[in-house]
Amino acid sequence: MIKVGIITASDKGSRGEREDLSVKAIEEVVAKIDGVVEKYTIVPDDRKIISKTIVEFVDEHKLDLILTTGGTGFSIRDVTPEATIDVIEKDVPGIAEVMRMKSLEITPRAMLSRAVSGIRKQTLIINLPGSPKGAKECLSSVIDSIPHGIEILKGIARECASNADSSDN
Ligand code: MTE
Repeated sequence: MIKVGIITASDKGSRGEREDLSVKAIEEVVAKIDGVVEKYTIVPDDRKIISKTIVEFVDEHKLDLILTTGGTGFSIRDVTPEATIDVIEKDVPGIAEVMRMKSLEITPRAMLSRAVSGIRKQTLIINLPGSPKGAKECLSSVIDSIPHGIEILKGIARECASNADSSDN
């Protein structure tokens, strides 16, 4: 089982003015890797609050995977990537690169997401766009490699060579 946390960054959502439909879309995708959502919250598009929530999910709840949704675009209030960079210890550019690359096959607007991914302690953190469609498409494009990454992060798997060519590793 993979312990998952979801953080929705949305001013309107945090005020109860918009239903969070992305969380359901994300839950469906993480179910494919035996991911269980243990923590979920909606926060406003505030850099300090988003960072603080990521730190709390990692340091106190020790989740394996944190998925943020929203706040990756160009709006003045979009600060999720900056809040993530504030608290990650290692950058994992490949995940964000693949999400954009695969998403560009679906929409040219994929280039407008500034999503980042990285590691804090033994937790992988991935930014996703805010729309249910964008969140689902981005996460689906990287989901198959995530369990192996988490196993290495947690020290469960050490060997990559034997199954590096496998499509599901
Ligand atoms: N990626 C995918 N796969 N599908 C999408 O529909 N929407 C794009 C982009 N990435 C989209 C996507 C759009 S329109 C925007 S503005 C950015 O994500 C940023 O979204 P956010 O501000 O909700 O995070």
